[in-house]
Amino acid sequence: MGRTGRQRGRIGRAWDESAAGWDESAAFREPPPPAHSSRRMGTVMAASIHTAVLPAEVMSFLAVEPGMTVVDGTLGGGGHTRLLLDAVGPAGRVIALDRDPAAIDRGARELAGNPVRFAQANFCDLPEALDALGIDRVDRVLLDVGLSSDQLADQDRGFSFDSEGPLDLRFDPTEGEPAWRMVNRLRPETLADIIYEFGEERFSRRIARRIADVRDKAPIRTSRDLARVVTAAVPRTKPPQRIHPATRTFQALRIAVNQELKSLRIALERIPTRLAPGGRLAVISFHSLEDRLVKEAFRNRQVWTALTRSPVEAGPDEVARNPRSRSAKLRAAATAVPVGDAAT
Ligand SMILES: C[S@@+](CC[C@H](N)C(=O)[O-])C[C@H]1O[C@@H](n2cnc3c(N)ncnc32)[C@H](O)[C@@H]1O
Repeated sequence: MGRTGRQRGRIGRAWDESAAGWDESAAFREPPPPAHSSRRMGTVMAASIHTAVLPAEVMSFLAVEPGMTVVDGTLGGGGHTRLLLDAVGPAGRVIALDRDPAAIDRGARELAGNPVRFAQANFCDLPEALDALGIDRVDRVLLDVGLSSDQLADQDRGFSFDSEGPLDLRFDPTEGEPAWRMVNRLRPETLADIIYEFGEERFSRRIARRIADVRDKAPIRTSRDLARVVTAAVPRTKPPQRIHPATRTFQALRIAVNQELKSLRIALERIPTRLAPGGRLAVISFHSLEDRLVKEAFRNRQVWTALTRSPVEAGPDEVARNPRSRSAKLRAAATAVPVGDAAT
């Protein structure tokens, strides 16, 4: 099938990446769960190593004022949360959400003593999180989606290619299906679609076929197992690629496992219902499909007044300091103010 037809046929699926209902391989036998790496057993959780991206730009578009109530929907290492806390001051408050219990634990420890409330929650459940805290409307919301450097560095989570820990890839390790089960369960055609669509990987079919061949002999368990399989499936390029050959496959599986696009789409629908009139939302995304969702949501003028016409990106200095910022795209919008409510 030609590339154009293939692209057209596949894109529609991107909007609901729930893997639970996808077809299983006929040969699938549930393998025992992989053993967790013993390296971190008994260790104390380290301080965050994540560097917040586009910090000045985020704060400029959010224009947070003292006394405001602000939601950081993606606490991560707490870099943006700290900036938001400084801006709201002692009379304001920040509500910090994250799906990852480890991020919440670390934030609660590192930010103790500040006017911040934490909730381990998906940002698409922001209304429920606010209800639980007895908060009706908020003034600002920030979403900095995707993966943190802390998660990448944690050998037990499977996000890094050389990890001997289980290929898990879940932000919340108690929810949904780990990636190792997905790669051992799904039909090769379905795996190829996921890798192509969410990873924009042109060798998706080869990779999926190789995964199917390998798992017929022994289940894929660790991130290192999968990285090896993908590396062997992808032709070597000259000059060699700047990124690891498994980067796109890992990204695709992570998006599928966490249903990241679905969470973002629902959040973009629900957040305006809890923003005060004229309230602002800023979203940092790292994937073209995410950025497209944000761009399309902000086009609805009945709900939003876009503050960014095109996405704001990191400059060369920030990219040199923080290479992760290279693919970051920031968009911001304010909720439309009903006629008569506009400040005079
Ligand atoms: C890029 S990091 C955020 C970094 C943070 N802004 C900082 O300055 O340290 C993304 C975080 O969002 C979390 N996350 C991703 N999707 C989420 C969702 N749907 N709901 C809540 N948290 C989510 C991840 O667990 C991760 O900790």
